Amino acid sequence: MQPKSVEQPQRADVVAELKALFNAAVDGIIVADQDGIIAEFNKAAERLFGYAADQIVGRPINMLMPEPDRSAHDGYVKRYLETGEARIIGTGREVRGQRADGSTFPISLSVGEIEGGSGRRFIGLIRDLSAQRAAEEEAYRLQNRLAHVGRFSLMGEMAAGLAHELNQPLSAIVNYSQAGRRLAERENPATASIIDCLEKITDQAMRAGHIIDKLRDFLRKDDATKAELNLNDLVLSTLNLVEADARAEGIPILTDLAEDLPHISGDLIQLQQVLMNLTRNAVDAMRDGPNKDDGILIRTRRLSEREVQVSVLDHGPGVPPQLEKSIFLPFVTTKRDGLGVGLAISRTIIRAHDGELFCRRNPIGGAIFGFNLPATRRG
Ligand SMILES: Nc1ncnc2c1ncn2[C@@H]1O[C@H](COP(=O)(O)OP(=O)(O)OP(=O)(O)O)[C@@H](O)[C@H]1O
Ligand SMILES: [Mg+2]
Repeated sequence: MQPKSVEQPQRADVVAELKALFNAAVDGIIVADQDGIIAEFNKAAERLFGYAADQIVGRPINMLMPEPDRSAHDGYVKRYLETGEARIIGTGREVRGQRADGSTFPISLSVGEIEGGSGRRFIGLIRDLSAQRAAEEEAYRLQNRLAHVGRFSLMGEMAAGLAHELNQPLSAIVNYSQAGRRLAERENPATASIIDCLEKITDQAMRAGHIIDKLRDFLRKDDATKAELNLNDLVLSTLNLVEADARAEGIPILTDLAEDLPHISGDLIQLQQVLMNLTRNAVDAMRDGPNKDDGILIRTRRLSEREVQVSVLDHGPGVPPQLEKSIFLPFVTTKRDGLGVGLAISRTIIRAHDGELFCRRNPIGGAIFGFNLPATRRG
C-alpha cells in the first residue's frame, strides 16, 4: 500500500500541536523570561505545584522555590546573564520545589535557553523525585531492619559461647562468696581477706555486666547512625563477644592492628555485626579441623590515604570452589543449621558504607574475608 501523502501543516496547526505536546508531557514544563517572570506553565506543572496556569503566569518564578533559592534566584540569573557562567543551564540538577500550599518536594530540574524574537527566555523541565526518594528511604529502612534481625540470628548462634563466657564470672562469684563466708566464720575473722574477696566479687560481677551491656547495645537499635570511627576501636570493641564465641571452641583470636589508621564514617553496631559474621564463619570453618591452635587473625590495614581494610584470616579448609561465585547471595549455605544470610547482610551493610566486602583464598590455606572502606580524614 502506498503511504498517504501528508499535507504541509499550517502554522496554526503547528502551534496547536506544540501546545498539545506541552500539556501532554509527564514532566512539568515552565517558561520564564529573563526577569524571572513565568510565561508558560503546563498541565504537569499545575499538578506538581498546585497552581493553575492562569494563577501563576505573570508572577515571579522564585515563588516555586523554597529558601534559600527563593531569595538567591534573581542573583543566579543576573550572574548568568553577566558572566555567561552556567551552573544549571544545560546540565540539570536536583533541587527542591515549593507547592502552593507551602510544602516542598525534591525535583530534578534541567533548564534550557531560548533566544527568540521576544528576547531571551528560559525553559525548565521538572521531574518530581518524591516517589523515588520515598522508595529509597523505604529501602534504607528495610535494610536497617534486616541488619537488626540478622543481629538476633547471629546472637542466637553465638549464645553457647556467650553463656560460657557469662558462666565464668558467675562461677568465680560463687567461689569467692563461699571463701568469704568461710573466712567470716573463723573465730578471728580475717577482715582484710574478706574485703579482698568482696572486691573480687565486684570485679567479676562488673565483667559479667560488661558482657551483658555489650549484648544489649548490639541488639538494641535498628536505625543506623554514622559517626567517625577508627577501625581499630571497632575491632577492639567487638573482641569481647568474638573471643567468647571462639574460646568456647578452643580457637584463639589474634589481632594485628595497624597504627596510624585514617578514620572512617560508619555505624559502629552494623560494622561490628559484619566483623562478627566473618569471625563466626571462621570459627565454623575451623571448628572440626586440625589447625585450631593457629587461631583466627583479625587485621587492620591502611591501603592508601583514602582506603582502609579489615580482614579476618582463618586456617580452615577455605571456601568450596562451587560457592566462590555465589557466596555473597542470600540463602547460600553449606551448614546444616545455617541460614546463609550472614554474608549477604554483611555485603548490604558494607555497600551502604560505600565499601566492598571481599573473599580471597589464603595462599597458606584457609580463607580471608574482609572489607575495604573509604577513609574520611587522618585519625
Ligand atoms: N571462612 C570461611 N571458610 C570457608 N567457607 C566459608 C567461610 N565463610 C563462609 N563460608 C561459606 O559460605 C557460606 C555462606 O556463609 P554465610 O555466613 O552467608 O551463611 P552461613 O554461615 O552458612 O549461615 P548464617 O546465616 O548463619 O551466617 C557458608 O555456609 C560456608 O559454606
Ligand atoms: Mg555465617
